[in-house]
Amino acid sequence: MTTAPHPAPARVVLIGFMGAGKSTVGALLAARLGYRLVDTDALIEERAGAPVARLFTEEGEPAFRDREAAVLTELADSSGVVIATGGGAPAQARNRRFFTGDAATFYLRVTLATARQRAEKDGTRPLLMQDEASVERLFAEREGIYEELGITIDADGATPSEVTERVLAILNRPNR
Ligand code: S3P
Repeated sequence: MTTAPHPAPARVVLIGFMGAGKSTVGALLAARLGYRLVDTDALIEERAGAPVARLFTEEGEPAFRDREAAVLTELADSSGVVIATGGGAPAQARNRRFFTGDAATFYLRVTLATARQRAEKDGTRPLLMQDEASVERLFAEREGIYEELGITIDADGATPSEVTERVLAILNRPNR
């Protein structure tokens, strides 16, 4: 059943660290809201014709961030869409406009241990392949940015369906 909230935000944007469940929850939310799902990493891969990990190795992170910023600019005025963003996008000052405006932005919060468990093993996240101290620093730096830009949803130890229900409950709150 679709349950479009009133007033319906043009965009629902999901932010959070790698492994927070943005893509999975994004798909469930989109189905419930009757919105389209856009996964920015998937869109970047489609445009570039290469997986994110290869873009990092072959072009470097700055070129990946340019590709990411271009995709977000394209989506900045979209509507009827749930957008699952890459974990590093909110940390780029040039992407700020994307996370504001007529968007409801949710920060899916998990601990670093959970993020690691979910994301580390598949080898698709180059930034998790760094040394322990660098990953911890990245996590700490980003937490504050995520909190500032989004409504925090506790996604640690919760199933994707539970997280989806938590987001929907807030979207459906009167006077949100
Ligand atoms: C990144 C997160 C990844 C992907 C890229 C960089 C980051 O997306 O955009 O590997 O800087 O945190 P997910 O958050 O979907 O894993």
